[in-house]
Amino acid sequence: MIQPEAAISTDPEAVPHTLEIVGLRKVFGARGNAGGVVAVNDVSFSIARGEVLGLVGESGSGKSTIARLIAHLHTPTAGEIRVNGQPVPARLRGAALRHFRRQVQMIFQDPYASLNPLHPVRYTLSRPLKIHRLSRGTMDAQIGALLERVGLAPASTYASKRSFELSGGQRQRVGIARALAASPDLILADEPTSALDVSIRLDVMNLMLDLKDQEGLSMLFITHDLAGARYMSDRVAVLYAGTLVEIGPATEVIDRPQHPYTQLLKSAAPKPDAGLVPEEIAARGEVPDLKALPPGCPFEPRCPHAMPECRSGLPQMYDVGHGHTARCLLHDPAIRLNRGGAVGAG
Ligand SMILES: Nc1ncnc2c1ncn2[C@@H]1O[C@H](COP(=O)(O)OP(=O)(O)O)[C@@H](O)[C@H]1O
Ligand SMILES: [Mg+2]
Repeated sequence: MIQPEAAISTDPEAVPHTLEIVGLRKVFGARGNAGGVVAVNDVSFSIARGEVLGLVGESGSGKSTIARLIAHLHTPTAGEIRVNGQPVPARLRGAALRHFRRQVQMIFQDPYASLNPLHPVRYTLSRPLKIHRLSRGTMDAQIGALLERVGLAPASTYASKRSFELSGGQRQRVGIARALAASPDLILADEPTSALDVSIRLDVMNLMLDLKDQEGLSMLFITHDLAGARYMSDRVAVLYAGTLVEIGPATEVIDRPQHPYTQLLKSAAPKPDAGLVPEEIAARGEVPDLKALPPGCPFEPRCPHAMPECRSGLPQMYDVGHGHTARCLLHDPAIRLNRGGAVGAG
């Protein structure tokens, strides 16, 4: 258990990674050793200071569960989470929890559900400002500054509105302002634009990128849209059935996917020359039962390149160059040799 004093004495600027997760696992509804849904299966990645990591995968792949584990809204079944170099204890309370929330904030998919429709914007923003007490200015001045940072000007007009009086895009801007009120180092954005009209998604994404640049924020940007992930992210991680299958620079992973699942996602996505039009990733074939995952690669039952070896155990992550790794035996040197050196990329 880390003491809040010890955590407060850490200088975040001195730590290169805002977030590191190692071997993170979450099983829902397990009784003793029996069953349970393996929502997150041994996931490891890190996010550097000022970096955006995109997390993509189809619905039910465990994206939100990962965000909620990092945000301390779920307790991990196994694994470690480190924020600014400090391990996060399994249970945080009181001052330690407040200190944690000052470092890590979440933006939710649905601004309609995450803001109380009857609360004026002023009230929504005053609560985190009071809890974190970061600035000396008057409450109205702090709220005004937050609203201006998220493009809601004149601030006095928006501060007195109730959230049901705002458009979806304005509501999500309030959600972003609420996260910024804590002056966090890391923002976990769980499909922040999926519930918004296509016409305003780009505005909200650009706002998030501007804020990241201005404040040096790190960000986990969750989406099921590859074009959005490529636009927002420095690196992209691909999740399939709770398992990290590929990670690397955004252009590498999305332009040259090396895992057959990412190749399938890409082939199902709208073409780049069609513009930035996010669409639901089309599911082809069966999504595996998370209560009874196959012992090998979880994608093997759907994979066009499946080999008998794929069923014998979960493949490791193979280095495919340029800081890019993929969990697929097609990249195992011995197997490539047997197959005549051809990697079955589609
Ligand atoms: N609180 C919960 N209790 C039980 N099962 C859950 C819970 N939250 C998520 N799950 C299950 O975990 C899996 C991953 O869900 P989720 O993380 O929401 O995926 P995604 O965000 O990628 O759509 C799904 O099978 C889902 O039904
Ligand atoms: Mg989700």
